[in-house]
Amino acid sequence: MMDTEAQKKAVGEAAAALVEDGMVVGLGTGSTAACFVRALGARKLDIVGVPTSIATAELAQSLGIRLGELGETRTIDLTVDGADEIGPGLALIKGAGGALLREKLVWEASKSCLVIGDAAKHVKVLGKFTLPIEVVPFGHKTVHARICDVLAEFEIGIAPILRRKDGQPVKTDNGNLIYDAACERIEEPAPLGAALKSITGVVEHGLFLDLADKALIGTADGVVELEP
Ligand code: 5RP
Repeated sequence: MMDTEAQKKAVGEAAAALVEDGMVVGLGTGSTAACFVRALGARKLDIVGVPTSIATAELAQSLGIRLGELGETRTIDLTVDGADEIGPGLALIKGAGGALLREKLVWEASKSCLVIGDAAKHVKVLGKFTLPIEVVPFGHKTVHARICDVLAEFEIGIAPILRRKDGQPVKTDNGNLIYDAACERIEEPAPLGAALKSITGVVEHGLFLDLADKALIGTADGVVELEP
């Protein structure tokens, strides 16, 4: 029987086994993606990794993985990343690690995207986990008010909370701020995502829709594969 940590390691290793010599590989962010990066590093392949955060770049470098920048390598063959929730159709909430913008840029530039997670990440409806919304710092309280208006249109009444660490607002790798929205149930992720994205000052949100081609989910008994 595998516990959560063993499940993360198992999906990380299963994902790393799919990487072939010569590939350009998008490297996700978070503890599950780190399991993948470690397993990938152990394979000592001749690949180029495109990291989605400074933390992942540091980890990959420490393992001897050659790095390239988005747009400076040839097309990314495969991106492997974790998620906070994996819902129906492989719709995802991502961004608890604050890397949602770089992650989405890398995912969208990839020929194929694989999401990996432990069993708890697999949900029937998105929204129990908070939805991160990255905003520019300038005038962010005004942007917050607009976000609240949009959420109210989707019958989400709770105001998003500014993400803080040690009392200070968290800055992303891009120098932006994050508001976390407790949506509870996101029945229609596509219109919500589009409405949030239309707000001036919102840089990105953590809904990853129609992006994952496959999921590897860890369960107590082993790794299962899901498709949209
Ligand atoms: C970071 C992310 C992560 O992939 C997500 O938060 C999952 O992290 P973990 O594997 O540590 O649970 O989206 O921005």
